[in-house]
Amino acid sequence: MMKVVTIFPTLIIINELDNFKEVENDLIDFTYEERSKDNKGVSVSNIGGWHSKPHYSSYENILSSVILQGINKTLGSSSVFKSNTTIKILNLWININQKGNLNSKHLHPRSDLSGVFWIKAPKNSGNLRLYSPHTYDHAAQIQYFSEDFKNKAQIKASYEINPSAGSLILFPSSIYHDVAISRSDEDRISCAFNIKIS
Ligand SMILES: [Fe+2]
Repeated sequence: MMKVVTIFPTLIIINELDNFKEVENDLIDFTYEERSKDNKGVSVSNIGGWHSKPHYSSYENILSSVILQGINKTLGSSSVFKSNTTIKILNLWININQKGNLNSKHLHPRSDLSGVFWIKAPKNSGNLRLYSPHTYDHAAQIQYFSEDFKNKAQIKASYEINPSAGSLILFPSSIYHDVAISRSDEDRISCAFNIKIS
């Protein structure tokens, strides 16, 4: 009897924050206030747009408390991690992208898990694309796999997430990712973070 086994999966956890509506406006106000204090921001993976300094996990503010609560709820209800697992947010930053802005392909070194939380995600404001860590290994054989097998085994070069406000995603920090160009007239606001688990 023949069997096909697919191994070495990649962890992607996606969750909707249930209390998002209650904090949505305060979070939006907070991000714009922060931008007004430091219009220049920093230049990292962002092509255009405003990328804040990654300091929001180092003091108490609405963003860090919503994110910490969101991560803990997500991990607590996911059954992925052992119940005594603890997390530490290493850094946390805000991105405000406007029409024509994007984030180029990058990964987050010196961290275990990374995440994105969307505060404002209008239509066509840029999907998050995560790239397979197996692309090089699969490159030769993947072109001969049937569509049916690829779909069943989730074998793909990249995985796209069409974001919605209030969603939170966690993924291994070693996974390359980018954000597609925004085609929206409205701002796209997200925050991103790195986590150490122990
Ligand atoms: Fe990133």
